[in-house]
Amino acid sequence: MKKIFIDSDCGIDDAVAIMMALVSPEVEVSGISAVAGNVALDLVVDNITRLLGYFNREDIPVFKGASTSLLGQKIRAGGVHGDNGFGDVKLPHTGKTAEALLAPDGLYKTAKENQGLTLVAIGPLTNIAIALNLYPDLKDYIHDMVVMGGAINYGNVTKFAEFNFAADPEAAQFVIDSGVPLTIVPWDAALKAMFTEDDINNLGFEDSKAGKLFLELEQTPMKYFEKIFGGKIAGQPDPLAMAYVIDETTASYRIKSNLKMELTNNTMRGASVTCAGSSIDVIMEIDKGKFSTILKRIKALK
Ligand code: BDR
Ligand code: CA
Repeated sequence: MKKIFIDSDCGIDDAVAIMMALVSPEVEVSGISAVAGNVALDLVVDNITRLLGYFNREDIPVFKGASTSLLGQKIRAGGVHGDNGFGDVKLPHTGKTAEALLAPDGLYKTAKENQGLTLVAIGPLTNIAIALNLYPDLKDYIHDMVVMGGAINYGNVTKFAEFNFAADPEAAQFVIDSGVPLTIVPWDAALKAMFTEDDINNLGFEDSKAGKLFLELEQTPMKYFEKIFGGKIAGQPDPLAMAYVIDETTASYRIKSNLKMELTNNTMRGASVTCAGSSIDVIMEIDKGKFSTILKRIKALK
């Protein structure tokens, strides 16, 4: 069983990824940190704490992190995730709150107490970069890091750039350079495994607590993408990365490369450019059938 720590800008697909982790016996969630991204930080904290309360997992500590990128920018994705970042669904508040420790300290403490931790980053990399900067020995306690982010051939915020990396490209470069063994699941993988409305309705999710929540949440991204592509589809980027963490055999096509972030303030800013080398595992494709099997496990959440 892998111990994991999740850094998230929850986020509809973040919530689905967290649900998958909660239900999967292969992983144990030792903590979750919140980073601003899809929506502002306080909404992200609210979404994570309500989600954990809803599934009776108030035992998992939540740490509040960065409210802007390293350079103070605020790039948001409210259109895809709804104004509250949760498809405007409001789960009941159980009283769970964030810890007094902030994200970099929470991550450091958790990593020291659980050496060999897998760090799963499904938001902008601001918290992780700050933590690695503040605590240079942190990398010794982390076994590896799986990040949803980057675009090899196709971006989502621009033709070249994916949201998590574009929201804080300096942080992404810092993490790439950190020397922590890194696997990324870029936007290209999400494009290969888009879920249509039929895919979503055929999951058999109507009768379970988490399944119903999933169906409700997915309405917002489907409406958003319908306006752009003319059809109801929803990407599952963070859940695909979590599926890989749970079962590495879900990866059906991977390459090895180095990446360099475009940091110049031009139309390419936030792009992740492949360059010579093989230090990063890039998962270009996740098997959709295997992914769906893992996703369906959430039906068992109480
Ligand atoms: C990433 O951006 C966010 O909107 C999603 O939650 C995901 O982490 C996809 O580009
Ligand atoms: Ca996310």
